[in-house]
Amino acid sequence: MVIVPKIRNNTCITSHPKGCEVNVCNQIGYARRHKLQPTFKNVLVIGASTGYGLASRIVAAFSGGAATLGVAYEKPASEKACGTVGWYNTCAFEKYARQSNLPALNVNADAFQPETKGQVIELISSAMGKIDLIIYSLAAPRRYDPEEDRTYYSTIKPIGKNISTKSLDFMNEKVTQLTVAAASDEQIMHTVKVMGGEDWELWIKALDNASLLATGAKTVAFSYIGSELTYPFYRHGTLGKAKEHLENTARKLDLFLRANGGRAFTSVNKAVVTRASAVIPGVPLYISILYKIMKAKGIHEGCIEQSMRLFENFLLSDNPLLDAEGRIRLDDFELRKDVQAEVKELWHKVTSDNLTTCADLEGFKSEFHRFFGFGFPEVNYTDDIPTHCVAQEIAV
Ligand code: NAI
Repeated sequence: MVIVPKIRNNTCITSHPKGCEVNVCNQIGYARRHKLQPTFKNVLVIGASTGYGLASRIVAAFSGGAATLGVAYEKPASEKACGTVGWYNTCAFEKYARQSNLPALNVNADAFQPETKGQVIELISSAMGKIDLIIYSLAAPRRYDPEEDRTYYSTIKPIGKNISTKSLDFMNEKVTQLTVAAASDEQIMHTVKVMGGEDWELWIKALDNASLLATGAKTVAFSYIGSELTYPFYRHGTLGKAKEHLENTARKLDLFLRANGGRAFTSVNKAVVTRASAVIPGVPLYISILYKIMKAKGIHEGCIEQSMRLFENFLLSDNPLLDAEGRIRLDDFELRKDVQAEVKELWHKVTSDNLTTCADLEGFKSEFHRFFGFGFPEVNYTDDIPTHCVAQEIAV
């Protein structure tokens, strides 16, 4: 099959196995060039197949030498259709981990379900040993709760009033105006149920009940604050409520894990292009402007650079520097006063006519395509390839 990008509503419904492999290889190459103290022996990553979860897994394994178990929920490739990007990323990760003698186990299942937790616990008991680090990196649209026989849906909406925002239709290269209706109380509750900390806590308690937390075990989940420009539909919206819940859960889990020498954190990360962030109203435009400014100042970072800083400066430190709320801050460069002042100026100025000068549109588009395995010069995209193929010939 010749696989081409099919982009609808800021998401891509195809992915290219060879391109995904190059993307994973590039991140592995970065991790190999930045070796870390091998502190974490066994690492569990929940949401391990793309974005921040994948990058953290790569750093844990290829910089730190850890055995990893990745949980993700991806569609496998079939003879007739390509798999999802996270499916190909996981195949590539596993292949290179095996070549480097780094144990890598995978569970492709719904992380919210008790059966998945049971399956992971069984696998850890039989093939891994106690876990030193748990990275929780889910970005999910829904969660089925079997106890209530009810499905909860996550929404990205403002709270209190409808919000109108500038947005980006990056495929048609247009700045648009979008009005997003205020969330109902029920939608807020649903979003907190899906993207808050409840399931993270269930994972930690399940591992503890199975006596699979190593002494001093640490855990981290990812949060976002962002700019005043995105507050109305992010930090002050439904997702922000879920992040507040996640951050409160971290404080609870921190007390719990400290009893055995461990720690729990949220890490407030920088805005980057991923499957999850590209569909948040206003965020693609904000990221395109942010990238322009941060690249010009030489402080641009992607998932892999952020994950490296997370390990090096925080997870591997006995006394990490946290903010007043007890959070790790990897958004320090993004929120620098000079960066935000310039972003705001361009945000107010940007229109469809000056988009390419006010924003890093090409950078955004290229990163978005690469996220799904497209646009790598190493790959011949006219090749007719089997959908299950993960290229053998690309060197790290
Ligand atoms: P992503 O979409 O790249 O990755 C999400 C991961 O969750 C994938 O591995 C996917 O397979 C997995 N997943 C989704 N539903 C699942 C389920 N039911 N069971 C098992 N696995 C499931 O997302 P991204 O952007 O890396 O986000 C990860 C976390 O980082 C989120 O909490 C997000 O809010 C946070 N974050 C993201 C930022 C960004 O700019 N992308 C910035 C700051 C924080």
